[in-house]
Amino acid sequence: MNLLNTVRDRFAAALASMVTDVAPVLEMIRPAQDAKFGDFQANFAMPLSKQLGKAPREIAQMVVDRLEISDLCEPAEIAGPGFINLRLRNEFIAQRISVIAGDDRLGVQLTHAPRNVVVDFSGPNVAKPMHVGHLRSTVIGDAICKTLRFAGHHVTSDNHIGDWGTQFGMIIYGYRYLRDDAAFAENSVGELARLYKLVNTLSDYQSSVAKLPELEQASATLKTQLAVHEVSAGSDDKAKKQLSSIRKQWVSAEEVVKNARTTIASVESELVVHKLSRSHPGIARLARDETVKLHAGDSENNQLWNEFLPDCLEALNRIYQRLGIEFDLALGESYYNPMLADVVSSLKAKNLAIESEGATCVFIAGNDAPFIVQKTDGAFTYATTDLATIQYRREILKADEMLYVVDKRQSEHFHQLFATAALWGMNDARFQHVSFGTVMGKDGKPYKTRSGDTVGLESLLDEAITRARRIVDENDDRRETPMLSSDDRATVAEIVGIGGIKYADLHHNRDSDYIFDWDKMLATTGDTATYMQYAYARICGIFRKLDVDRTTLASKDSTILLTTPEERRLALQLLMFGTSIDGMLQDYRPHTLTNWLFETADAFSKFYDRCSVQDAESNELRHSRLILCDLMARALRTGLSLLGIQIADVM
Ligand code: ARG
Repeated sequence: MNLLNTVRDRFAAALASMVTDVAPVLEMIRPAQDAKFGDFQANFAMPLSKQLGKAPREIAQMVVDRLEISDLCEPAEIAGPGFINLRLRNEFIAQRISVIAGDDRLGVQLTHAPRNVVVDFSGPNVAKPMHVGHLRSTVIGDAICKTLRFAGHHVTSDNHIGDWGTQFGMIIYGYRYLRDDAAFAENSVGELARLYKLVNTLSDYQSSVAKLPELEQASATLKTQLAVHEVSAGSDDKAKKQLSSIRKQWVSAEEVVKNARTTIASVESELVVHKLSRSHPGIARLARDETVKLHAGDSENNQLWNEFLPDCLEALNRIYQRLGIEFDLALGESYYNPMLADVVSSLKAKNLAIESEGATCVFIAGNDAPFIVQKTDGAFTYATTDLATIQYRREILKADEMLYVVDKRQSEHFHQLFATAALWGMNDARFQHVSFGTVMGKDGKPYKTRSGDTVGLESLLDEAITRARRIVDENDDRRETPMLSSDDRATVAEIVGIGGIKYADLHHNRDSDYIFDWDKMLATTGDTATYMQYAYARICGIFRKLDVDRTTLASKDSTILLTTPEERRLALQLLMFGTSIDGMLQDYRPHTLTNWLFETADAFSKFYDRCSVQDAESNELRHSRLILCDLMARALRTGLSLLGIQIADVM
């Protein structure tokens, strides 16, 4: 049950004869921010006042007179300029709790309108090390899939692996001419990653060397212009503006020169790399040629691709396994290669794609940049592949909805992609770019290692587990008799470490950037997985201590007694699970669910401080409190599992 929607439905009936479009009015009914305003508050009387030509309080009174909600709520109160405050009846809360006692779904029903949703997430690029950006996509995407499934939708998770891009040309070139055989034999994926980086470095170096004189010239010209303007320009606003614009251009031109010089210096300070550059002139073009050959079906390059791919995929799978994440499909970019020519012909036949400066492009109104589906040299693009993918998902997978969990820096791409797909005839499907921000270091820049490389995922997971192990050890050593064997501790450290990383990501609004902070992530108090996991174990401990069999708890009489505000608040929180699930799925924001978990855990801790279970005044009260404890444990287990986070009975 979605409690908020239940309340809104009652209002919808009351409002039906008063307004034509009730939906936006219902949006203004929300859980109350402060308990003194009751449990729900309706704030629509003021905005409706103009529309209906009546005073807000009068409108509020009219709605309250029509509202049939006495089975759920105490009589409604009208406050201030026309707010309607509602307080649920204790009997209603208690009765709902006894209905859901013992239910792992906490009373959440399956949707009546299941959709067929494809969720595209993770999408790492093979042979480039997977980094924290891909971690965000992986963790958010998995939580969305799990929650959609829980709600009763049909979900296909698909990993759109980048296995066909320009990096393969670099790797093939590197493998042919620069490989270290011993290193390749020992760790092929590691060696391929090194080769990718090396070819990249050499090509950056060569292009910097080639461009430097031109860049220096451009900067010098700007500097001269600036000097001339400083002396001769007038002091009016226009001149000042012009001066500041030239200064800005010069500053950024200097920055570009500086970067090129740094790139050059770093290669020239390494004798071996510098020598390699001399023996491999024009490496960028040579690598590009290898990609073109691969895409054109060249047998040697395809053989190499087939040889490299399995190991690269295995390396990725190791990470997914550690994260406990599985995909229904992993159709990489290469899968769509045979379909790309047809995509372009079809777009041309419908007059959607046209030739422009030698390339084939789709122009979307309101976008300056064209959406290129075939480049001047005949190569298809990321865009062409994505269009083929949409066609496949629509026609073969019968998707009604496609979600793309991808960095927000790609929003322009998805905007153009969805617009093109709609024009192409796929407008009966829903598309959404589920975008997310960047993971930042404490220095406010994208998260990097000390050596300046992007942080590889494997080492990140290792560190999380090492840090978690310290917490687990300390906690268990504090006990009079430690409860965990060394193996148990290792298992719990995995659960805490991986859970900590996932939760830290999920509890931020996905569009914001966030700062990666180990200490905050694994803190045992506050809005962290660690806190929830320990809360879960604590409840399991209560049941062990009191020797209560949780499996039969709910089958006995489950009358719920709400004798204190703390019991009531906890019970109400537990009833809001369905509302938080629907809230999360409305715009695919996992933090809606973590907020609910955190508030519920907070309500539990206040309940537990105030209300003794063991020494409850009566057996009935003790039993009622045990049921609340049990439901809380289920709430934590179920809520965390939707986020892909595990728990343990003893920690
Ligand atoms: N491989 C891409 C990247 O690393 C992400 C793929 C996202 N999915 C898609 N269908 N475009 O940026």
